[in-house]
Amino acid sequence: MKRKWTFAALLAMISLCAALTGCAFRPQSVVRQADTEHEPGSSQIMVGYSQIGSESAWRTANTQSFQETFSPENGYFFLFDNARQKQENQIKAIRSFISQQVDYIVFSPVTEDGWDTVLGEAKDAGIPVIVSDRSVDVEDESLYTAWVGGDMTAEGVRAGKWLEQDLEKSGRADADINLVVLQGTARSSAQVGRSKGFEEVAKQHPNWHILARQDAEFTTARGKEVMEHYLKSFDRIDVLISQNDDMTFGAMEAMDEAGVTYGKDGQVTVISFDSVKKALEMVQNGKINADIECSPLLGPYVDRLIKKLEKGEIVPRSNPVDEKVFTQENVARYLPDRRY
Ligand code: AHR
Repeated sequence: MKRKWTFAALLAMISLCAALTGCAFRPQSVVRQADTEHEPGSSQIMVGYSQIGSESAWRTANTQSFQETFSPENGYFFLFDNARQKQENQIKAIRSFISQQVDYIVFSPVTEDGWDTVLGEAKDAGIPVIVSDRSVDVEDESLYTAWVGGDMTAEGVRAGKWLEQDLEKSGRADADINLVVLQGTARSSAQVGRSKGFEEVAKQHPNWHILARQDAEFTTARGKEVMEHYLKSFDRIDVLISQNDDMTFGAMEAMDEAGVTYGKDGQVTVISFDSVKKALEMVQNGKINADIECSPLLGPYVDRLIKKLEKGEIVPRSNPVDEKVFTQENVARYLPDRRY
């Protein structure tokens, strides 16, 4: 499936299309030469995927979604790299995909910034890049063909709006409310977006006091540590905003050990993000008040984009996926189908 069209022609077509529509496309590939046990078959699409790491249950489900979707049966030769939370490892993996002349590079960027150079190299090599899950902040948007994932800022707004309504329902709309935040990996779009969205709503409520926001790296162990620190530092915490379920599980351990109650009938209202199965069970039993969904099942979306690009079709540059808010009122409807 190597590219036979000239790079200059491709650049001209992509630039024109992007300028006119904000979209991108990739002309149909031609047939690959090699077909041995260890090399891509002649009709296979070669995809290099750089995954951030394996920090959370969400991430495991995300990896599985790609590994299941990008199978030989589905026409792919799939190269997978786990960057173990390091941007330098992701950059190395992307460079290795470029030197192997893959047909597409897909990656989930650990942080928003720092991608201009390596994506410029992919562009110079004529390899389309699809950004998945977290987004990138680059000078030139044409450095990537498309992005697909959850709108993290909208997720943060949903958390804020849910809290607003909950406080109204319980007659505490005007009461002083003390909040603490467990943040995900610093400078990741998940951390930046969820913080920004939530704080947009919080700003409208001078009675919401955000006592602390600290990086707990999206992991259970750090979630527990940081929550222990919060519990020692503040006399009264009314609301915990935890930017993923794994940190929430750690925070719950810390609250259990400190004898602090939480959830529907507890002292601390818990708002979490992701909505993995274990967390939705906790929504059902009242331990988590609200869980803001972020879908890890992105493999099929990226597959659809690539299949369209292979046909020479135009795809939108921005592809946000639909996401919900789970509470005790609606969770029973969705829990039986939750696979991860
Ligand atoms: O980018 C998505 C976030 O990254 C998820 O909320 C978190 O669990 C993961 O590690």
